[in-house]
Amino acid sequence: MEDVGVGIVGLGNVGSGTLTILAENAGQITLKLGFRLCVKIVSSLDADTRTLPEALGAVERTLDWRRVTTHPGVDIVAELVGGTTVAREILETAIGHGKSVVTANKELMGLHGPDLWDKAIQAGVNVAMEASVAGGIPIHAVLREGISGDRVEALYGILNGTSNFILTEMEKRGEALEAVLAEAQRLGYAEADPSADIDGFDARSKLAILSALAFGERITPSDIYTEGIRRISQMDFQYAHRLGHTIRLLAAARLTRAGLVLSVRPALIPQSTILASVRGSYNAVWVKGHYGEDTFYYGRGAGPRPTGVAVVSDLMRVAREIRYGNPERVSPFAHERLGEYDPIPVTRQTRAYYLRFRVVDRPGIIAALAGILAEKHISLDAVLQLPCEDKKAVPFVITVEPSSEQAVREAVAKMSGLDFLIEPPLAMPMETGL
Ligand SMILES: NC(=O)c1ccc[n+]([C@@H]2O[C@H](COP(=O)([O-])OP(=O)(O)OC[C@H]3O[C@@H](n4cnc5c(N)ncnc54)[C@H](OP(=O)(O)O)[C@@H]3O)[C@@H](O)[C@H]2O)c1
Repeated sequence: MEDVGVGIVGLGNVGSGTLTILAENAGQITLKLGFRLCVKIVSSLDADTRTLPEALGAVERTLDWRRVTTHPGVDIVAELVGGTTVAREILETAIGHGKSVVTANKELMGLHGPDLWDKAIQAGVNVAMEASVAGGIPIHAVLREGISGDRVEALYGILNGTSNFILTEMEKRGEALEAVLAEAQRLGYAEADPSADIDGFDARSKLAILSALAFGERITPSDIYTEGIRRISQMDFQYAHRLGHTIRLLAAARLTRAGLVLSVRPALIPQSTILASVRGSYNAVWVKGHYGEDTFYYGRGAGPRPTGVAVVSDLMRVAREIRYGNPERVSPFAHERLGEYDPIPVTRQTRAYYLRFRVVDRPGIIAALAGILAEKHISLDAVLQLPCEDKKAVPFVITVEPSSEQAVREAVAKMSGLDFLIEPPLAMPMETGL
């Protein structure tokens, strides 16, 4: 059967991993497909000086991505550039020229994925994006096909490997976030500007995509309540452990009576849950289905090879479609049409909370804080204080019984004005019901 032609734009981490797999694993790929995937042309800003795997044979190179999207021998274009401007142009131009597209771009697909899919339907081509969330975990395939017969009630994820690496190293080594982050940057695990990872924006884009697949709603990432991990300190792990918990940056989507509640934020999770054992740069997704109940997916969230596997597998799926024909294509969002998401504020939820304070020690502090909690009808559960020498910055923790998040926020805002606090209280939900 005739080869399927592939063009690749972007030869960075993911692009080079993809090329390596296409070259080294060509035999297996051909056996599985019954025809060859043939890389015809590649593009990057330094494509002219790049060393490409020899096994790929003769491959054209260009600095101009438009030559890839218009190349007559290319059936599928892989966009592995990132960002939302050039990448969007690449996908739109490729689709406009009747090419199917494969992308690893969560940011772009989170923002414009449904529009791109509409364009692809009109052009009669496909869009595949397995690599865009949780790199090496085939979670799109699971939600789109594997468990599409179920009704998803909740989805929890550890979706950002960098922040999970930082949190779990802090936990293991007892070091401050800044020290672990600096080391992660030195080792190349974290970007020079770590904001997308540690402020939760990367996980937010991924949650928007997964929630669209799981719940059929078109979600604007900025509608997702998002908090990062910057304020977590090593002492929070000590307190969390005392409470039988640990801390993770948790991406959560829950179908409630009011609607779909979405959040990305650090949370205390029981040490006994399967999510607590997700360490280092690994990712995990836990799906709770109405009929099939719990399923759990775990693997590398990033890296040239795990992400490259996702890209190559997408290329194979789309190539099969091209060669064997499949008019009933499944939307990359798992739903024929996405509904418009009506954001439900997280403040409508009821949660137990962990409140951590640092104060200048003096009598009456607990009474003042307890007074504010009582005023907001919040029941105090426990007060914990680990030994501390420095009387000018004494940490302690109050946990509260499940309470309305709105009330907890109002209490925290009022507490923040108290003169004995040396910083605003740190409030984290305790996800005891996972
Ligand atoms: N890194 C991961 O593990 C991972 C995991 C999952 C998803 N992703 C996603 O995969 C995508 C790529 O990430 P990456 O880590 O591979 O990025 P990267 O290492 O920065 O690579 C980007 C590539 O795009 C090329 N490029 C930039 N502008 C271009 C243009 N105008 N025309 C042609 N090529 C251009 C760059 O060329 P030069 O090298 O010549 O500058 C580089 O080869 C992003 O959407 C990212 O979110 C990455």
